Parts: sequence; C-alpha cells; structure tokens
Amino acid sequence: MKFFLDTANIKDIKKAKSLGILDGITTNPTLISKEYLVYDEKKIIKHYINICNLLEDESDLSVEVISNTYIEMIKEGKKISKLHPKIVVKIPMTEDGIKAIKYLSNNGIKTNCTLVFSPLQALLAAKSGAEYVSPFIGRLDDLSYNGIFLLKEIMNIYKNYNFKTKILAASIRNPIHISECAKIGIYAVTAPIKVIRTLIENPLTKIGLDKFLNDYNKKKY
Ligand code: G3P
Repeated sequence: MKFFLDTANIKDIKKAKSLGILDGITTNPTLISKEYLVYDEKKIIKHYINICNLLEDESDLSVEVISNTYIEMIKEGKKISKLHPKIVVKIPMTEDGIKAIKYLSNNGIKTNCTLVFSPLQALLAAKSGAEYVSPFIGRLDDLSYNGIFLLKEIMNIYKNYNFKTKILAASIRNPIHISECAKIGIYAVTAPIKVIRTLIENPLTKIGLDKFLNDYNKKKY
C-alpha cells in the first residue's frame, strides 16, 4: 500500500521522507492556509516546487485548484501542472470539476478528483479519466456513515468495469482507518504525520525494549 502524507508542511514532509516510506504528498487549500499568514503567489509556487524536489522518482504531489468554474479550473490546472512534472492537479467533484478532469486528462494532465463521498461520484471520477479518486472516509465517519464501506463499494465498481483510476483514501483520522484500508487492498492512503506515527508506536514495544536494555545493563563488564 502506498503512503501519502496529507500536509503542506516541509518539516513534516522531511520527517516522513526520512522514514523511507513516503510515496507522495496531498495538499488542499486548508493545508496551504496553515503555512501562510499572508498569501504570496511566488512563495506558494516555490513551496510546491520545494516539495516536489523532496520526493522520490515515482512519487507525486497533489495540488488543488482554488477556482470553481470549468474554464478557470482548466486555466489554473494547466498552470499548476507546468510547475513540476511530479504535480497532479486536484479537482473537486462538481459538475464543472468533472468537465475539467475530462479536459485535463484528455490533454495528458494527471488529476486527483477530491471531495468524493459516494460510489457514484467515484464512478464519474473514473469515467472522466481521473488518475486518482480521493474518498474522504473520516468526514463520512464523523457523520455516522461508514467510510470503509464506501471504499469497498468503489473498489467493487472499479473492478466491474476495469477502471484504472487509483483509490487514494483521504481524511484518514486513525490507525484503524489505515489497517482497514490495507486489509481491503486500497491502493494508497493519505494521512497527517501524527497518524503515521501511531503506526510505529506501541506501549508494549517500549516496555519490552526498556526491559531488554535494563536486563542487559544490570551486568557489569
Ligand atoms: O486532503 C484531504 C483530506 O485528507 C482532508 O482530511 O482530516 O480535513 O477531513 P480532513
């Protein structure tokens, strides 16, 4: 399973990269807003390029458009995609968004269809030619729907029609989300670094390690 980091924070990206398990980055307008007090387009462009330069060969960075009409999304999508070959253009699942995904995909620009909450939205994302679909499972769970169930439905639909769109499970809130994704064979998850850390840490590992070292060090050389 691929691990993406859901952040625009360079320090967090460097930390995840140092673990050697980083397959890509996803950002969104909220995550970018956390990095800047005042927006400066040149700085934000440089920020995205810096992130791309940190990534390994097969990895990519999803950058979301902030426009919401077909024409503007296409214009912005083309501009974003020219910044770096590793950039995938993130487009929201709206009527204009679907059209923009279709246009960009037909023109060789990879897209990530975001804000997906239903199997039919995911079906349309795939039909439009999206490289990735991002179902937001945590936000569904917040409303007492079952995010993992949605992923299973999308997997089933994609299998039925042999769609190549990759499922990138987003809005990951906890390690259970990640283990459930792994069990059903989801292509990738995108999570904040604090959730990735929970995969490593276990109190029994710490207790065990402390005891091993304590026992070993009881003897004098
Ligand atoms: O990047 C999109 C998604 O992962 C957002 O997550 O936690 O804001 O629902 P969250």
